[in-house]
Amino acid sequence: MSNRFFTFVGGDTGPWRVCDIRTIVGHGMESVSRVEIINEDLQQTPAGAAWALRGVVSNQRYTNRSELDSLKAVQPSLGRTEATCAVLIPITKSSAWWELPQDERREIIESRSAHIATGLRYLPAVARRLHHSRDIGEPFDFVTWFEFAPQDTAAFYELVTTLRKTEEWRYVEREVEVRLTLDQK
Ligand code: HEM
Repeated sequence: MSNRFFTFVGGDTGPWRVCDIRTIVGHGMESVSRVEIINEDLQQTPAGAAWALRGVVSNQRYTNRSELDSLKAVQPSLGRTEATCAVLIPITKSSAWWELPQDERREIIESRSAHIATGLRYLPAVARRLHHSRDIGEPFDFVTWFEFAPQDTAAFYELVTTLRKTEEWRYVEREVEVRLTLDQK
């Protein structure tokens, strides 16, 4: 990773073709046909693009040692040849969430919602990268990115459905799901 900043540009160029954009909660996003991921902190939306979502890869906040070891043992990297499906899910949590102390947020995320334990069951099928956006003045708090092979599509949406029923997701006030496929070269 040359730097930790990424910009997801929605427009009509880029290798990822948009199949569907679904508004899960809150305001939606403008419809686009393609997404390009740029490993830079773009300050302006490129000409001709409808939106640009920026985020930075950061340190872990909630993951404990044994979870980190389990993740490292099974998590695949992005860009696998067979992983031609992707989902971009920008998410904003409520002010009630951000007012909670760290230990209570960990309680909700893991002790009561089992986010990490549930997610681990879908590895190594799903590769992912979490980008933090809240502290860089973005409209979303997080930009999440997932890649998997076509045969793992149903499993991925099963995971998303499970997470959205958890206590953690009661704090999600904006969420959009952008479903993509990679153009074969
Ligand atoms: C594919 C399996 C998944 C695994 C293994 C996984 C794992 C994790 C881990 C370990 C963290 C905590 C990072 C930290 O310590 O700061 C995290 C955070 C997060 N994940 Fe997942 N996750 C998965 C799927 C998902 C999905 C499908 C979504 C969205 C629908 C999602 C959205 C998020 C968000 C928004 C955060 C940040 C939460 C916060 O800091 O408040 N994750 N995930």
